[in-house]
Amino acid sequence: MNRTTIDYTARVENELDLTMPSLSVNEGMARAAVAAFCAQLNPTAVELADLKCAVSEAVTNCIVHAYRDTAGDIRINVKLCEGRIVQVEIRDKGCGIADVKKAREPLYTTDAAGERSGMGFTVMESFCDSVRVSSRLGRGTSVILLKRLHQA
Ligand SMILES: Nc1ncnc2c1ncn2[C@@H]1O[C@H](COP(=O)(O)OP(=O)(O)OP(=O)(O)O)[C@@H](O)[C@H]1O
Ligand SMILES: [Mg+2]
Repeated sequence: MNRTTIDYTARVENELDLTMPSLSVNEGMARAAVAAFCAQLNPTAVELADLKCAVSEAVTNCIVHAYRDTAGDIRINVKLCEGRIVQVEIRDKGCGIADVKKAREPLYTTDAAGERSGMGFTVMESFCDSVRVSSRLGRGTSVILLKRLHQA
């Protein structure tokens, strides 16, 4: 897969919007909901597992980093696009990321408690064809995951 040819402007054929509070119990619900919605494209079990894992990492980041010691909404938008492209955007209005390039480096974490391994973005990148991150300090973060499913 050539990662530079992924098309972010492909025609949208179906779409789902979800909003949920940043409760850890909602992480499992979010990935199950995304998987259930994508099931209409008959993805392979591996494709589905990859997507769930990537969504799980992004949602967990909203809960543990964006809204650390606070609470807020997590918005998830799923687009099923022409060419069997799945696009999932996970957005928060939390603390934002000071240096996105640094945050995406393997093993980079701001977690002082030693509970995090700093591998969330790396996992998202390895399970998706493209990962876009945009963030503003104090305003929030958007992560867009793109995955092209096998041709049926
Ligand atoms: N939504 C977000 N809002 C604010 N900061 C974020 C967000 N997502 C990631 N970060 C920052 O980017 C860093 C790297 O994120 P990443 O998911 O790669 O690792 P981690 O969450 O620290 O550890 P792991 O995911 O392995 O448990 C985080 O430590 C945090 O500082
Ligand atoms: Mg993480």
